[in-house]
Amino acid sequence: MTDKKAYLTIEGQEPIELPIYSGTLGADVIDISNLGANGYFTFDPGFTSTAACESAITYIDGDKGVLLHRGYPIEQLAENSDFLEVCYLLFYGELPTAEQKSEFIETIGTHTMAHEQLSFFFRGFRRDAHPMSIMCGVVGALSAFYHDAMDITIPRHREITANRLVAKIPTLAAMSYKYSIGQPFVYPRNDLDYASNFLYMMFATPCEDYVVSPILAKAMDRIFMLHADHEQNASTSTVRLAGSSQANPFACIAAGIATLWGPAHGGANEACLEMLIEIGDESNVDEYVARAKDKNDPFRLMGFGHRVYKNYDPRATVMQKTCDEVLKELGIDDEPLFRIARKLEKVALEDPYFVEKKLYPNVDFYSGIILRAIGIPTTMFTVIFALARTIGWISHWNEMVSEPYRIGRPRQLYTGHEKRDYPKK
Ligand code: CMC
Repeated sequence: MTDKKAYLTIEGQEPIELPIYSGTLGADVIDISNLGANGYFTFDPGFTSTAACESAITYIDGDKGVLLHRGYPIEQLAENSDFLEVCYLLFYGELPTAEQKSEFIETIGTHTMAHEQLSFFFRGFRRDAHPMSIMCGVVGALSAFYHDAMDITIPRHREITANRLVAKIPTLAAMSYKYSIGQPFVYPRNDLDYASNFLYMMFATPCEDYVVSPILAKAMDRIFMLHADHEQNASTSTVRLAGSSQANPFACIAAGIATLWGPAHGGANEACLEMLIEIGDESNVDEYVARAKDKNDPFRLMGFGHRVYKNYDPRATVMQKTCDEVLKELGIDDEPLFRIARKLEKVALEDPYFVEKKLYPNVDFYSGIILRAIGIPTTMFTVIFALARTIGWISHWNEMVSEPYRIGRPRQLYTGHEKRDYPKK
């Protein structure tokens, strides 16, 4: 709370006094929660000016291109940390000591296998089902398996649920891929690090040894890290809203996965790579940029623009560097799609339409190229985003449930019919 107050003056009425709160960083917020008692609601479709909760997990300054997790800049985490350490940081609030970290890795290891009966669940899906549709189903189905730690009022139960989710989600993600190509599921290997284990479950088969490349595992880990959390985006807000009814946390995460799937959100990485493939050649870039600017054409440049960033997405900067490194290490830095992406970025960044609207490349602009270089099929891109974002979702859910909270219940501006009588027969 600050000493500052806001006053809302409505013609012919006494001004309504509204308290103002300050956070550690960022814009102050005006508390309008009592406005309803005065006969008014606020109207903010898309939540462009609404803080729906208080949170101490992640901070974004969209104008400066800053992203902090528990205060640590994403660039520093990407350089010095790893995904599991970031998971610990997001959930518990501090970086782990060396001892805490090894304990955490061991704990995650104890939960990596999915319940054997879950594999039967997969068989109900068509082989050509999109892996995201499978993920929505099987992650929600976890609710039916883990009754032993399901009292959401007990912090230890919430911690076990978070550990289970972080540990099992790569196993389920890899299973959704294996199912789609008709190969047997591969069990996790706890002697491998988190990213290597995921790649192993994706690409190993019972008949051939699969050695995970450390370069690719590092790139995979960095992609996980860069997607781990992003404060109150659409999917995280969905998880919070679902959780506010005290719903089962696995079901809440499934709701987050469903929201992430859309091309305006997590589905953009898949859509972006498809767009680069469709562009096909550097010489076609100008034509696609012109289409993106044409009001009569629904086409948008995928991987460009962000609700919050009106500057470079700091994750995109790290992603571009990682992309450079991976392609160089693999000896494919002449990869045509990378050349198209580079050209597209250059043209868009110089074009007045993109400059005026502050449309910069976002995290998904380069991630698809890296994932493709690693050998991940396009349909798995958003699944990987969901895998990584699971820790962000469950950390936000845990933060909300740890404090007093009320069910989320937005209001509306009703523009339908006034009351009318059912026609007489
Ligand atoms: N290409 C062309 N024009 C665009 C683009 C784009 N990618 N993004 C926004 N615009 C234009 C839009 O047409 C609008 O123009 P006008 O003011 O003349 O009507 C203006 O810029 C503002 O766009 P908006 O849709 O009102 O902005 P928003 O904050 O509601 O949407 C967005 C943000 C990310 C959904 C949007 O920029 C977009 O659709 N981008 C492409 C999809 C994408 O890359 N999504 C991934 C986001 S990052 C990953 C994640 O966090 O999920």
